[in-house]
Amino acid sequence: MSDKKLTIAIDGFSSCGKSTVAKELARKLGYVYVDTGAMYRAVTLYCMRHNLIADDGTVDEAALKNNIENIGISFIYDPQTSKNTTLLNGEVVEDEIRRIEVSNKVSYVSRIEFVRAQMVRLQQDMGRQGGIVMDGRDIGTVVFPNADLKIFMTASPEVRAQRRFDELTAKGEKVTFSEILENVNQRDYIDQHREVSPLKQAADAHVVDNSQMTRDEQFAVILKLVEEAKAAKK
Ligand code: DC
Repeated sequence: MSDKKLTIAIDGFSSCGKSTVAKELARKLGYVYVDTGAMYRAVTLYCMRHNLIADDGTVDEAALKNNIENIGISFIYDPQTSKNTTLLNGEVVEDEIRRIEVSNKVSYVSRIEFVRAQMVRLQQDMGRQGGIVMDGRDIGTVVFPNADLKIFMTASPEVRAQRRFDELTAKGEKVTFSEILENVNQRDYIDQHREVSPLKQAADAHVVDNSQMTRDEQFAVILKLVEEAKAAKK
Protein backbone atom coordinates (compact mmCIF):
# COMPACT_ATOMS: atom_id res chain seq x y z
CA MET A 1 0.00 0.00 0.00
CA SER A 2 1.20 3.52 -0.66
CA ASP A 3 1.63 5.82 2.33
CA LYS A 4 -0.99 8.38 1.33
CA LYS A 5 -2.78 9.25 4.56
CA LEU A 6 -6.49 9.11 3.92
CA THR A 7 -9.39 10.56 5.85
CA ILE A 8 -12.00 7.82 6.05
CA ALA A 9 -15.59 8.50 7.13
CA ILE A 10 -17.81 5.60 8.17
CA ASP A 11 -21.44 6.47 8.78
CA GLY A 12 -24.55 4.42 9.25
CA PHE A 13 -27.27 3.17 11.55
CA SER A 14 -26.64 2.17 15.14
CA SER A 15 -25.29 -1.32 15.86
CA CYS A 16 -24.43 -2.21 12.28
CA GLY A 17 -20.80 -2.96 13.07
CA LYS A 18 -19.28 0.41 12.13
CA SER A 19 -16.91 0.55 15.05
CA THR A 20 -15.67 -3.02 14.56
CA VAL A 21 -14.83 -2.29 10.93
CA ALA A 22 -13.41 1.15 11.68
CA LYS A 23 -11.12 -0.24 14.39
CA GLU A 24 -9.94 -3.10 12.21
CA LEU A 25 -9.27 -0.72 9.36
CA ALA A 26 -7.37 1.76 11.55
CA ARG A 27 -5.18 -1.04 12.90
CA LYS A 28 -4.46 -2.40 9.43
CA LEU A 29 -3.58 1.04 8.02
CA GLY A 30 -1.80 2.38 11.12
CA TYR A 31 -4.36 5.19 11.41
CA VAL A 32 -6.09 6.72 14.41
CA TYR A 33 -9.63 5.57 15.11
CA VAL A 34 -12.25 7.90 16.58
CA ASP A 35 -15.66 6.67 17.78
CA THR A 36 -17.84 9.79 17.68
CA GLY A 37 -20.86 7.99 19.15
CA ALA A 38 -18.82 7.61 22.33
CA MET A 39 -18.56 11.41 22.52
CA TYR A 40 -22.35 11.88 22.40
CA ARG A 41 -22.72 9.07 24.91
CA ALA A 42 -20.26 10.77 27.27
CA VAL A 43 -22.20 14.06 27.09
CA THR A 44 -25.38 12.08 27.82
CA LEU A 45 -23.78 10.46 30.85
CA TYR A 46 -22.74 13.90 32.06
CA CYS A 47 -26.38 15.05 31.73
CA MET A 48 -27.62 12.00 33.62
CA ARG A 49 -25.15 12.50 36.45
CA HIS A 50 -26.00 16.18 36.79
CA ASN A 51 -29.77 15.77 36.51
CA LEU A 52 -29.88 17.68 33.24
CA ILE A 53 -32.05 15.07 31.52
CA ALA A 54 -35.47 13.85 32.67
CA ASP A 55 -36.78 10.30 32.34
CA ASP A 56 -38.81 11.31 29.28
CA GLY A 57 -35.68 12.65 27.59
CA THR A 58 -36.31 16.35 28.18
CA VAL A 59 -32.95 18.09 28.47
CA ASP A 60 -32.34 21.23 30.53
CA GLU A 61 -30.71 22.89 27.56
CA ALA A 62 -29.94 26.20 29.28
CA ALA A 63 -28.02 24.45 32.06
CA LEU A 64 -26.28 22.15 29.58
CA LYS A 65 -25.25 25.11 27.45
CA ASN A 66 -23.75 26.81 30.50
CA ASN A 67 -21.75 23.68 31.24
CA ILE A 68 -20.76 22.54 27.78
CA GLU A 69 -17.23 23.93 28.10
CA ASN A 70 -16.83 21.96 31.35
CA ILE A 71 -17.46 18.63 29.67
CA GLY A 72 -14.01 17.29 28.87
CA ILE A 73 -14.04 14.34 26.50
CA SER A 74 -10.85 12.55 25.62
CA PHE A 75 -9.65 9.14 24.52
CA ILE A 76 -6.78 6.90 25.43
CA TYR A 77 -5.86 5.29 22.13
CA ASP A 78 -3.87 2.08 21.84
CA PRO A 79 -2.47 1.85 18.29
CA GLN A 80 -1.62 -1.86 18.74
CA THR A 81 -5.24 -2.88 19.20
CA SER A 82 -7.03 0.30 18.02
CA LYS A 83 -8.87 0.16 21.31
CA ASN A 84 -10.23 3.52 22.35
CA THR A 85 -11.04 4.17 25.97
CA THR A 86 -13.39 7.09 26.55
CA LEU A 87 -12.73 9.53 29.38
CA LEU A 88 -15.18 12.06 30.81
CA ASN A 89 -13.30 14.78 32.65
CA GLY A 90 -10.43 12.36 33.17
CA GLU A 91 -12.55 9.46 34.43
CA VAL A 92 -12.76 6.21 32.44
CA VAL A 93 -16.42 5.82 31.43
CA GLU A 94 -15.99 3.37 28.56
CA ASP A 95 -18.27 0.68 30.03
CA GLU A 96 -20.78 3.03 31.57
CA ILE A 97 -21.51 4.86 28.31
CA ARG A 98 -22.44 1.55 26.61
CA ARG A 99 -25.18 0.73 29.11
CA ILE A 100 -28.79 0.61 27.95
CA GLU A 101 -29.76 3.55 30.19
CA VAL A 102 -27.37 5.75 28.22
CA SER A 103 -28.41 4.24 24.86
CA ASN A 104 -32.03 5.09 25.66
CA LYS A 105 -31.22 8.76 26.27
CA VAL A 106 -28.41 9.57 23.86
CA SER A 107 -30.62 10.56 20.91
CA TYR A 108 -32.21 13.33 22.98
CA VAL A 109 -28.79 14.85 23.61
CA SER A 110 -27.26 14.28 20.18
CA ARG A 111 -30.08 16.21 18.49
CA ILE A 112 -29.21 19.47 20.28
CA GLU A 113 -27.54 21.93 17.94
CA PHE A 114 -24.93 23.42 20.29
CA VAL A 115 -23.92 19.93 21.45
CA ARG A 116 -23.35 18.87 17.86
CA ALA A 117 -21.44 22.06 17.04
CA GLN A 118 -19.08 21.45 19.95
CA MET A 119 -18.53 17.76 19.06
CA VAL A 120 -17.99 18.53 15.38
CA ARG A 121 -15.32 21.08 16.32
CA LEU A 122 -13.50 18.53 18.47
CA GLN A 123 -13.76 15.90 15.73
CA GLN A 124 -12.41 18.21 13.04
CA ASP A 125 -9.45 19.04 15.29
CA MET A 126 -8.70 15.35 15.77
CA GLY A 127 -8.74 14.73 12.03
CA ARG A 128 -6.73 17.68 10.82
CA GLN A 129 -3.63 15.60 9.99
CA GLY A 130 -5.44 12.86 8.02
CA GLY A 131 -4.61 9.22 8.67
CA ILE A 132 -7.88 8.80 10.51
CA VAL A 133 -10.88 6.52 10.49
CA MET A 134 -13.87 8.17 12.13
CA ASP A 135 -17.26 6.56 12.59
CA GLY A 136 -20.59 8.20 13.34
CA ARG A 137 -23.69 9.54 11.63
CA ASP A 138 -22.59 12.81 10.04
CA ILE A 139 -18.90 12.27 9.37
CA GLY A 140 -19.15 12.18 5.56
CA THR A 141 -21.83 14.87 5.42
CA VAL A 142 -20.80 17.44 8.07
CA VAL A 143 -17.51 16.67 9.84
CA PHE A 144 -15.40 15.73 6.79
CA PRO A 145 -17.41 16.51 3.65
CA ASN A 146 -14.13 16.22 1.71
CA ALA A 147 -13.16 12.83 3.12
CA ASP A 148 -11.13 10.66 0.73
CA LEU A 149 -13.42 7.71 1.33
CA LYS A 150 -16.99 7.66 2.63
CA ILE A 151 -18.67 4.44 3.59
CA PHE A 152 -22.33 4.18 4.57
CA MET A 153 -22.97 0.97 6.45
CA THR A 154 -26.31 -0.61 6.99
CA ALA A 155 -28.03 -3.86 8.02
CA SER A 156 -31.63 -4.78 8.82
CA PRO A 157 -32.98 -3.67 12.25
CA GLU A 158 -33.47 -7.31 13.33
CA VAL A 159 -29.90 -8.28 12.48
CA ARG A 160 -28.58 -5.23 14.33
CA ALA A 161 -30.77 -5.83 17.37
CA GLN A 162 -29.62 -9.45 17.56
CA ARG A 163 -25.95 -8.39 17.49
CA ARG A 164 -26.52 -5.80 20.19
CA PHE A 165 -28.51 -8.29 22.29
CA ASP A 166 -25.67 -10.85 22.06
CA GLU A 167 -23.12 -8.19 23.03
CA LEU A 168 -25.03 -6.96 26.07
CA THR A 169 -26.05 -10.38 27.39
CA ALA A 170 -22.42 -11.53 27.03
CA LYS A 171 -21.56 -8.66 29.40
CA GLY A 172 -24.22 -9.91 31.82
CA GLU A 173 -26.78 -7.16 31.21
CA LYS A 174 -30.38 -8.26 31.77
CA VAL A 175 -32.14 -7.19 28.59
CA THR A 176 -34.77 -8.65 26.29
CA PHE A 177 -34.54 -8.89 22.51
CA SER A 178 -37.75 -6.87 22.05
CA GLU A 179 -36.43 -4.09 24.29
CA ILE A 180 -33.28 -3.90 22.17
CA LEU A 181 -35.21 -3.99 18.89
CA GLU A 182 -37.41 -1.17 20.14
CA ASN A 183 -34.31 0.85 21.09
CA VAL A 184 -32.75 0.25 17.64
CA ASN A 185 -35.95 1.32 15.82
CA GLN A 186 -36.41 4.34 18.05
CA ARG A 187 -32.83 5.51 17.57
CA ASP A 188 -33.06 5.00 13.80
CA TYR A 189 -36.16 7.15 13.74
CA ILE A 190 -34.73 9.97 15.83
CA ASP A 191 -31.34 9.84 14.05
CA GLN A 192 -33.01 10.13 10.64
CA HIS A 193 -35.61 12.73 11.55
CA ARG A 194 -33.80 15.19 13.79
CA GLU A 195 -33.52 18.71 12.46
CA VAL A 196 -29.78 19.11 12.90
CA SER A 197 -27.51 16.85 10.83
CA PRO A 198 -29.92 13.93 10.40
CA LEU A 199 -28.40 10.60 9.49
CA LYS A 200 -28.32 10.44 5.72
CA GLN A 201 -26.12 8.97 3.13
CA ALA A 202 -23.65 11.37 1.50
CA ALA A 203 -24.13 11.45 -2.28
CA ASP A 204 -20.60 10.15 -2.80
CA ALA A 205 -20.70 7.44 -0.10
CA HIS A 206 -20.28 3.74 -0.87
CA VAL A 207 -23.13 1.73 0.65
CA VAL A 208 -22.18 -1.51 2.38
CA ASP A 209 -25.16 -3.61 3.57
CA ASN A 210 -23.71 -6.31 5.78
CA SER A 211 -26.94 -8.14 6.74
CA GLN A 212 -25.79 -11.18 4.77
CA MET A 213 -22.01 -10.73 4.97
CA THR A 214 -19.44 -12.28 7.28
CA ARG A 215 -16.97 -9.94 8.92
CA ASP A 216 -14.23 -11.13 6.57
CA GLU A 217 -16.34 -10.60 3.47
CA GLN A 218 -17.23 -7.13 4.61
CA PHE A 219 -13.63 -6.27 5.40
CA ALA A 220 -12.51 -7.43 1.96
CA VAL A 221 -15.10 -5.15 0.32
CA ILE A 222 -13.93 -2.20 2.39
CA LEU A 223 -10.22 -2.81 1.81
CA LYS A 224 -10.90 -2.75 -1.93
CA LEU A 225 -12.57 0.66 -1.51
CA VAL A 226 -9.54 1.88 0.45
CA GLU A 227 -7.21 0.77 -2.36
CA GLU A 228 -9.34 2.62 -4.89
CA ALA A 229 -9.38 5.76 -2.74
CA LYS A 230 -5.58 5.63 -2.39
CA ALA A 231 -5.17 5.25 -6.13
CA ALA A 232 -7.52 8.21 -6.70
CA LYS A 233 -5.52 10.40 -4.27
CA LYS A 234 -2.22 9.96 -6.15
O1 DC B 1 -22.76 4.88 17.36
P1 DC B 1 -23.47 4.92 18.70
O2 DC B 1 -24.68 4.02 18.77
O3 DC B 1 -22.56 4.73 19.85
O4 DC B 1 -24.03 6.42 18.78
C1 DC B 1 -24.73 6.86 19.92
C2 DC B 1 -25.76 7.91 19.51
O5 DC B 1 -25.09 9.12 19.15
C3 DC B 1 -26.69 7.54 18.38
O6 DC B 1 -28.03 7.50 18.82
C4 DC B 1 -26.55 8.63 17.37
C5 DC B 1 -25.63 9.64 17.95
N1 DC B 1 -24.53 10.01 17.07
C6 DC B 1 -24.69 11.14 16.30
O7 DC B 1 -25.76 11.76 16.32
N2 DC B 1 -23.67 11.58 15.52
C7 DC B 1 -22.52 10.91 15.46
N3 DC B 1 -21.53 11.37 14.68
C8 DC B 1 -22.34 9.74 16.23
C9 DC B 1 -23.39 9.30 17.01
